Amino acid sequence: MDASALPIGLIGDSSGPLYQRLAEGLRGAVRRGEVGAGSKLPSERVLARRLGVSRTTVIGAYRLLREEGLLESVRGSGTRVVASVHRIGPAVPAATMPSVKLTGELAAGVVDLSGSLVAGPEAVPHLTPDPIDLCEPATDLGYQPLGLPSLRARIAARYTGLGLPTTVDEVLVTSGAQQAISLLFTLFGRDGGVIATENPTYAGALDAARAAGATLLALPTDSEGIKVRPLRETLARSSVSLLYVMTTCQNPTGTVMSTQRRTEIARLAEHAGVPVVDDTTLADLAFEGRWHPLPTAASGVVVGSLSKLFWPGMRIGWLRAPRPLMTRLARLKVVADLGSSHVGQQLAAQLLPVSGDMATARRGQLTARLDLMSDLLRSRLPTWSWTRPSGGPFLWVQLPYGDGESFAQLALTYGVQILPGARTSTDRSFADHLRLSFVAEPADLRIAVHRLAEAWTAFESLHGSGRLPFDVVV
Ligand SMILES: Cc1ncc(COP(=O)(O)O)c(C=O)c1O
Repeated sequence: MDASALPIGLIGDSSGPLYQRLAEGLRGAVRRGEVGAGSKLPSERVLARRLGVSRTTVIGAYRLLREEGLLESVRGSGTRVVASVHRIGPAVPAATMPSVKLTGELAAGVVDLSGSLVAGPEAVPHLTPDPIDLCEPATDLGYQPLGLPSLRARIAARYTGLGLPTTVDEVLVTSGAQQAISLLFTLFGRDGGVIATENPTYAGALDAARAAGATLLALPTDSEGIKVRPLRETLARSSVSLLYVMTTCQNPTGTVMSTQRRTEIARLAEHAGVPVVDDTTLADLAFEGRWHPLPTAASGVVVGSLSKLFWPGMRIGWLRAPRPLMTRLARLKVVADLGSSHVGQQLAAQLLPVSGDMATARRGQLTARLDLMSDLLRSRLPTWSWTRPSGGPFLWVQLPYGDGESFAQLALTYGVQILPGARTSTDRSFADHLRLSFVAEPADLRIAVHRLAEAWTAFESLHGSGRLPFDVVV
């Protein structure tokens, strides 16, 4: 197909990265029959020129549609729309989290700095559970959608000890913090409900909001947290249904909200009648101090997880919410999966009492790796800048120029996977940022920074010659 034969307006008008919007436009054109089943599409280079976008954008859009089964590429004969389009079924919003490998592993030898895996299963203290103990007798058919009472009681006691009095009825166990976020966003965000987040924010929360069909509002932040004036104006102007924040170890910036800012934000939201969700998934990784509840936490929601202290593979998270809200969230949990696995919950109940010791060990490990990563970057990439995080597994790096999405593509060809800043935002405000995890083994960090420095040298010369982003081939 000649590129000029494609319908105009191919870039969809939803929010999100350009490649996703192009995929959305192409998907629509195929479904409306404007681009027929079996048709050959223009090459990435030609379509990029025609649309005035980077070749990386077209590569990303074609890749997404191939994953959905709508396009197929045959070496030597280009990219085509599949012949039986009607069998494909509806699309789902594209995920922004590259670290979650849905369809395959990274190429051998690639160092992955894109995720936040702090520890593997070897970090789970040696447990020898008795299989009988793992089957806590169920009072009913065996389904306990809210979670096992023994685990819920331990989570409630933990919050009470941290200054947020909590009863067992106020705790719902979820399949990781991600499901807690999804349930909340489904409840508050469906039918276009407005969810306000920090900008930048956790990429998985953006995915959950998009999947729920929510309207996203991104609030500007500084080193202390969400800026107060824009929040006040937003709450006055828009009917926000939920405010999602990470007070302690924000993802991706690693900031801890100041005491004054917490108070101001909590009061403003309370005044506007907007519940605040504090996602504390990374909070145990604060280098100093510990998590404190927001002054209004009793009427809001706290999300937590064992993924970062122990192991994401356990898929144990939770939310703490007041009872009237809990009833509705529990109904959604029933619809989602009838309740999380009892076996994982039994293990979690045994691990929770040692979580304090585990947090101390993790902090020591993380600060040592942060120091190493900072030294390596300062010596090999002196033009990159960042503020030292107050906790968590990430460095939030600003490039001196250029586009993080293109650089990430190039870095992958040099053997390092990183998260481009644009994935953490609904607008382009962080296109010049990268999120680099520093939790890998020291030897891998050294290799990764060496490769990043080589990729940056190549990027600079492509940039200087004006050949970027067209010549980045993945
Ligand atoms: C801030 C934040 N929330 C939630 C999650 C999801 O965690 P879980 O593995 O518990 O689903 C992550 C994972 O990295 C995260 O960083």
